Amino acid sequence: MTAKRPRLLVLGTGGTIAGSASSATDGSYAAGELALEDMLKGLAGLGLEAELIAKPIAQIGSQDMGWPVWDALHREIVAAQNDATIEGILITHGTDTAEETAYLFDLTLAAGKPLVLVGAMRPAGAVGADGMRNFANAVRVASDTDASGRGPLLVMGDTVFAAKDVRKAATSNIDAFKGYPRGPIARVTPSSLDWFGGATRVGEPARYAWPKALPRVAILTAGAGMDAKPVEALLGIGCSGIVLAGMGQGNAPGCVLDALGAAVKDGAPVVRSSRVDEGLVDRNVEVDDDAYGFIAARAQGPAKARILLMVLIANGITDAASIQAAFDRG
Ligand code: SIN
Repeated sequence: MTAKRPRLLVLGTGGTIAGSASSATDGSYAAGELALEDMLKGLAGLGLEAELIAKPIAQIGSQDMGWPVWDALHREIVAAQNDATIEGILITHGTDTAEETAYLFDLTLAAGKPLVLVGAMRPAGAVGADGMRNFANAVRVASDTDASGRGPLLVMGDTVFAAKDVRKAATSNIDAFKGYPRGPIARVTPSSLDWFGGATRVGEPARYAWPKALPRVAILTAGAGMDAKPVEALLGIGCSGIVLAGMGQGNAPGCVLDALGAAVKDGAPVVRSSRVDEGLVDRNVEVDDDAYGFIAARAQGPAKARILLMVLIANGITDAASIQAAFDRG
């Protein structure tokens, strides 16, 4: 008897995996050009052991990802999590902001059935295109019952990352993603899948409620010789919170730290993260967080620190101690 093929919902949003170039060797291309149905037709010959149900949500480059698409995706995922006929969910996504979408859903969805984001670094039709392989790998992961209870996963280049750890670390390499503090949590090929450990979040409910909207939170990158004017400008446009992408362990010139400290006193939480690619930002190392009222981002880089701060503020969590506890948990 042949085994039943898993039914997987594929939510399409665009990105380079749905990108098209005018030639196989030309470096320029447009992301999000191919319709999801056409992209999946291209997979028909791969012999994937799954039934794919296509649902296009958007057709964009992920630089344009934001509230309307996130809200639509969230609704579809919750419906699929409650649909006993769906075994797993895939999201095709541009790589530029995939970590932000994955982390947003990590914070706001139960760690239920497999939820896998997948993208590509090269557009369909480019020589050495990686999209089909990444998609075949993602189907393998989303079909595996061991992928549940881990939160959203990102599959790229034969590796599987957890949303909490993953970030884009290269602009154009095929292996553009890294994990921190954990590296990949599994290796995958279209014919094999090796988890490096068991799922730790089985049955875990959503940590935060899905909000009605997300507040304006800005990332301010520190640079040598800057003054405090950018902080004033951000507060002037009504930012509810600021994430500092600071130097080294989340540092900035004294005048900038003082202006950020004043923002905290005026009710805008400030999270210190680092513009450096990797590493922890801990409390009170070089900056007196206790005196300024700052929050240390710990392992999260600026992009994901912004997501967490937006979710917290939207959930009414605005005091520094509670925000710090959320960042300590990651
Ligand atoms: C995008 O993020 O939509 C473009 C880049 C990519 O998918 O690799």
